Order: sequence, then C-alpha cells, then structure tokens
Amino acid sequence: MADEPGARVPYLADRLQGFGTTIFAEMSALAVRTGAINLGQGFPDYDGPPEVLDAAVAAIRTGQNQYPPGRGVPTLREAVARHQRRFYHLVYDPDTEVLVTAGATEAIAAACLALCEPGDEVVVLEPTYDSYQASIAMAGAVPRFVRLEPPGYRLDLDALRAAVSDRTRLLLVNSPHNPTGTVLTREELAQVAALAVERDLLVVTDEVYEHLTFDGAEHVPLALFPGMRERTVTISSGGKTFNTTGWKIGWLCSTPGLVTAITTAKQFLTYVNGGPFQPAIAAGLDLPDDYFTGLAAGLAAQRDELCAGLVEAGFGVFRPQGTYFVTVDIRPLRPDGDGMGFCRELPERVGVVAVPNQVFYADPDAGRHLVRFSFAKRPEVLREAAARLAKLGAGA
Ligand SMILES: Cc1ncc(COP(=O)(O)O)c(C=O)c1O
Repeated sequence: MADEPGARVPYLADRLQGFGTTIFAEMSALAVRTGAINLGQGFPDYDGPPEVLDAAVAAIRTGQNQYPPGRGVPTLREAVARHQRRFYHLVYDPDTEVLVTAGATEAIAAACLALCEPGDEVVVLEPTYDSYQASIAMAGAVPRFVRLEPPGYRLDLDALRAAVSDRTRLLLVNSPHNPTGTVLTREELAQVAALAVERDLLVVTDEVYEHLTFDGAEHVPLALFPGMRERTVTISSGGKTFNTTGWKIGWLCSTPGLVTAITTAKQFLTYVNGGPFQPAIAAGLDLPDDYFTGLAAGLAAQRDELCAGLVEAGFGVFRPQGTYFVTVDIRPLRPDGDGMGFCRELPERVGVVAVPNQVFYADPDAGRHLVRFSFAKRPEVLREAAARLAKLGAGA
C-alpha cells in the first residue's frame, strides 16, 4: 500500500481503507517517467515457451473464445491433476477436486470469502504478499501475523503456535515465499501440518513459485503431509511457471467439498476468465521435465548475477532459495534505513526501481530498512542494473 499513513480514500468502505494504491503502481509509474530499469514488480521481461504461446494462438484461431465452463476447461483441469501427480504424487479428480481461477489472486480471495465468517482469524506469514491482507479484509476476517525474521527468514514454530487461537479458521501459507525467497523445509512443513491437524484448521497454501527453487531447495506441498490432503487448498498459477503473468490463469486443488464451497464465491467474482489461455497453460503443464529444471536453472543464474551486483554495491543481501525476488538491508548504504525514501530516490539517482518491503508488513517499521529487487529480467538487463547500482557504493 503506497498511501501515506492515515490518508483516507473518499467513498471507500472502512474495511478497505489503507489498501488505496499499491506501491507497484507508484513505482512502475516512476520507472516509466524516469526510464529506469524496473526491478520493482515481479514479472519477466521475456516470453514463455513457444509451445504455450502457440497453443494460445491456436485456441484463439479455432474459436475457443467464449465463456469456458465455470470450473475451467477440462483439458486444463486434467493437466493440473496430471501435474500434481507427476511432481508430487498427489492425486486429484479433475472434475470435482480442481478449480481454474483468475490467477492465484482470485483463488486466494475466493478461498477467504468462501471459508471465513466475519471475525474469523487467518494466520499468515509476515512479510505478506499484498493481496492476502486485502482478501482477508474483504472477507471481514482478521489477520494474525507470524513474522519471518532476517537474516535466515525461517519460520518460528513457537510463534506460529502462539498465533493460533480459538478464532483461527485458516492458516494461509506461502512457500516459496514472496518477498523473502524462503522455501519452507520438509521439517518446518511437517510441524505446520501437525499443528493444523491438532487444532483442526483449514490450510490454504500459495505455491505459485513451486518450480522456482534454487541450490537444491525442494518445494514440498503441504497437502502431502499426514492428515493434510483433506484440509488443504493448494493454489498455484501459470504466470510464474510459463512467464505469462498477464494471462492470469490460476487453479486450486482440494477436496470436493472445499472446491464446491470456493467455487460458490468464485463464480460471482469473475465466473470464468481467459478461455483460450486455459488450454495453452495445459500444454505448458505437460512440457517435459527439462523445461521446468531449465526454468529454475536460468533464474538461479539471474539471481546470482543480481546478488553479486547488490553485494558489490554494498547492500546486506539475503540470498533467496526461490521466487523472483531478493531482499536487501539498505543500512550499509543508507544509515537512516528509510527504505521508502530510498526507493523513491533510486530511479533518479541511478536509474533502477525497487520496492520498499515495509509495504509487506502490518507494522511498516518492521520492514523499514529492507528493499526488494526482482531478478526475473534478461541477463543483460540485470548486468546493466548491477552496474548502475554499483555506483551507489561510489556515492551516487
Ligand atoms: C506469493 C504470490 N501469490 C500470488 C501471486 C499472484 O499470482 P497470479 O498472478 O496468478 O494472480 C503473486 C504474484 O506476484 C505472488 O507473489
């Protein structure tokens, strides 16, 4: 949220005050105005695999341009089920246990709206991807935050346990985690699962970066742990895996009961979306393994390129194990630790855009000195950005 604290937006209902304009809109506008390299928003500046793009063109050309079925085209639901079985040995019925959504964003919103009563509590990891708080607020529910602390950004299981109360309805987990790049380990996930079972909680997991893990870090879906298949809503989307963030094709997998409940909310949000893009994402999900390993290897190299530049520039760099993002501590370069001020000045100073992590915290002070850069950019763009950032070390 980019609004200054306390600024009220006219007409806007109380429950959405504070969600005015996202920082991404402000920073992307700044990038356009200054011609800076935009490492703020998490989208690639390169296209997805030709098989996926060609399948979309073919779908448009063969008349798949009307409303798809409410739960998504069967081809995609079947491909999602195949993908879950192939990568994780999780078995879902494509007719009753898979729902196609307008990106992961709609899946998260629909899950909150469908599953929460007003006043219910939702436990989320903080820093928090910005749509979670808005989705929780739209459902009239209340967020309870469990903070991941630098430098390790590991999950504090005691803090998680302490955040669960009698009002807790959902655990909303994100791994690989935006913005920290943390990938929860099998041991951490096992304990999250044990807590969910013990307290009889529903769990919504956002796994949009499932294929973007580095250095051998392994993504393990929470639904795999004992007692979890029946209480977990697993969410993902094609945007990050196939470099098609503008298509907004997402999905969720769960039990028939949970899918039916969430479909009830979803059908009145968008009903359906992206008809011709759905079979195209299905083609992507069926690509051979080397596509997925190549994607992660390419991003790991991009991460290395950007992290080297950030270290060289003098930042404190928290090296991510996954996602598109790296978080840095700006205090070695800016002792007052004003991340918002730093990001607002950075485009004019050296021609690079980043986002201040304070927007991912309920208490902005907690993330004040942290800034996030995206490395989902072509290597030559990252090299140029790194060269520009290096000037900061020289006093630019
Ligand atoms: C953690 C997380 N969840 C969800 C999304 C949005 O996914 P989609 O574009 O499929 O709605 C993003 C996009 O940045 C994200 O970082």
